[in-house]
Amino acid sequence: MIITVGESVCNYFPNTRYKSPVGECTLKMPWHPRCQTAEIWNLRVRKRLQNKGFGQKMLNEIFQFLKDKGVNYVALGCYRDNDRAMHVYRKLGFQPYYSVLQTDSEHMWLRKKLA
Ligand SMILES: CC(C)(COP(=O)(O)OP(=O)(O)OC[C@H]1O[C@@H](n2cnc3c(N)ncnc32)[C@H](O)[C@@H]1OP(=O)(O)O)[C@@H](O)C(=O)NCCC(=O)NCCS
Repeated sequence: MIITVGESVCNYFPNTRYKSPVGECTLKMPWHPRCQTAEIWNLRVRKRLQNKGFGQKMLNEIFQFLKDKGVNYVALGCYRDNDRAMHVYRKLGFQPYYSVLQTDSEHMWLRKKLA
């Protein structure tokens, strides 16, 4: 299991068999000492490998990475009608804390306590 983090781009390789990332996201680390929340942006798993458990494995790796860095919360945004993503986030312990009604769908912000 390898996560490379450079310039806040996180590439996920489940093992060394994979030559290109299975999943990716942008990880925004807390920039101020009093801010305890990291943010995950643009999370996606390669299309033909979706729905095989990689998204959840990748997120669990990210949670451990953040915990090891002493980060207490992680947040991300998701459209309410993205059923698969919302299922994964809720299953892994994210809870909605803010939402914005947009013309076509509701955009939710969800947060999870890591510590
Ligand atoms: C969202 C995403 C990152 C999840 O990664 P993934 O590898 O596909 O997800 P996993 O295989 O780990 O888990 C999928 C889960 O969703 C469930 N699921 C699949 N389709 C579903 C649906 N239409 N509604 C509800 N749940 C669904 C599966 O049963 C599984 O849950 P389980 O483990 O409890 O059985 C990935 O699908 C993706 O890249 N989607 C396109 C981009 C995207 O929407 N990114 C998120 C932006 S917020």
